[in-house]
Amino acid sequence: MRDSETLAREVIARCQALARFSEDATGIRRTFLSPPMRDVHRAIAEWVTPLGASSRVDAVGNLRILYPGAEANAPRLLIGSHLDTVPNAGAYDGILGVVLAVALLTACEGRKYPFALEVVGFSEEEGVRFGTPFIGSRALVGSLDEELLSRRDAQGISIREAIANFGLNPADIPQTAMGDDTLGYIEFHIEQGPVLEHAGHSLGVVEAIAGQTRMEITFLGHANHAGTTPMSLRHDALAAAAEWISVVEQHAQSTNGLVATVGSIQVKPGAVNVITAQALLTLDVRHQKDEARNRAVDFFVGQAEDIAKRRRLSVRSKKLLDQQAVPLDSFLLNRVAEAVSRAGCEAYRMVSGAGHDAMILAARIPSAMVFLRTPGGISHDPAEAVEVEDVTKAIDCGFHLLDQVASSADFLSSPSRTHRA
Ligand code: HGY
Ligand code: MN
Ligand code: MN
Repeated sequence: MRDSETLAREVIARCQALARFSEDATGIRRTFLSPPMRDVHRAIAEWVTPLGASSRVDAVGNLRILYPGAEANAPRLLIGSHLDTVPNAGAYDGILGVVLAVALLTACEGRKYPFALEVVGFSEEEGVRFGTPFIGSRALVGSLDEELLSRRDAQGISIREAIANFGLNPADIPQTAMGDDTLGYIEFHIEQGPVLEHAGHSLGVVEAIAGQTRMEITFLGHANHAGTTPMSLRHDALAAAAEWISVVEQHAQSTNGLVATVGSIQVKPGAVNVITAQALLTLDVRHQKDEARNRAVDFFVGQAEDIAKRRRLSVRSKKLLDQQAVPLDSFLLNRVAEAVSRAGCEAYRMVSGAGHDAMILAARIPSAMVFLRTPGGISHDPAEAVEVEDVTKAIDCGFHLLDQVASSADFLSSPSRTHRA
């Protein structure tokens, strides 16, 4: 087997190479079915063909790579992550999990397992283009419904139209669903936070993924002349938004385990000498406990209504996502913990504050995640990085994990839909 450090250096070089494929001249941006996605599909397909794996793009733009098992009708184990990015992204969020899975195929050197390995590069996990995430993984679990397919981007293009514009056929979406022969899903992903670095660990064993709510909050006031309108007679949507944003921040700072983010604001008419008529904000709320998250969301919406009323404005709130917290499969994550230990690392168990495709797949099949340390704890930014040492250990862990799954007879014999003991 090629030594894992050489493979790790190749993984990092490949992530850097794929970072060139962007919608923007500077910085990485790859949203759902954008043109650079074709380049990513092509590059990865070229890497896997010599390994005896086939690749195709499914009807929602997921890259589906199949490395056959020892038997023709072998069940399959999914390994992957997402190919899309946030604007001005780092080079590793998502794509590292796909490229690392390809490195495991390389490390197989033709060896076959009692299961086929399907590497999946999900087409859309971030939710940047349509405000709703997990389009690719929802298709695999069959939950991409008509309401979602009708969601429109800023140009008024629906998900269904975007699929057709990319040259794919929306009528084929049902065929993107995973088969009943799917054993489980493993996702390698950067932690995107400071926990592993602070604790001095290379890898993390993810036990659960925090739930998240995404919303649009719109304050509706009245435009007016900035010079002639007395302060007491204004209905200023931007001033109301500013007051509400500081309420959101203060509440999250004083509530244990809660994070809340106003990530964007769009104002109309947006002129220096005009009082703002409309301020549209996005809100992202996360907590490990769904009840705490929902309580916070209710508080934030209530505060927006109070502020609007006091300032003689109106306010609209629209939920874009209500994703429950997800515990990961205890059987698989115990195998992950063993594999991490066999790779020479402490099996540090933790919860993910970021959302991941694993939380969608976990509704259908046993799913587990391995985190890699994020130097500086920085992500969703060009400063995002990984260490060769940690990628090396992740490859060793992946190789041990495949061995452990291959020797888990009961896991192999009944692809389960429920969490195992
Ligand atoms: O926003 C998230 O949780 C992830 O980066 N998609
Ligand atoms: Mn991300
Ligand atoms: Mn990600």
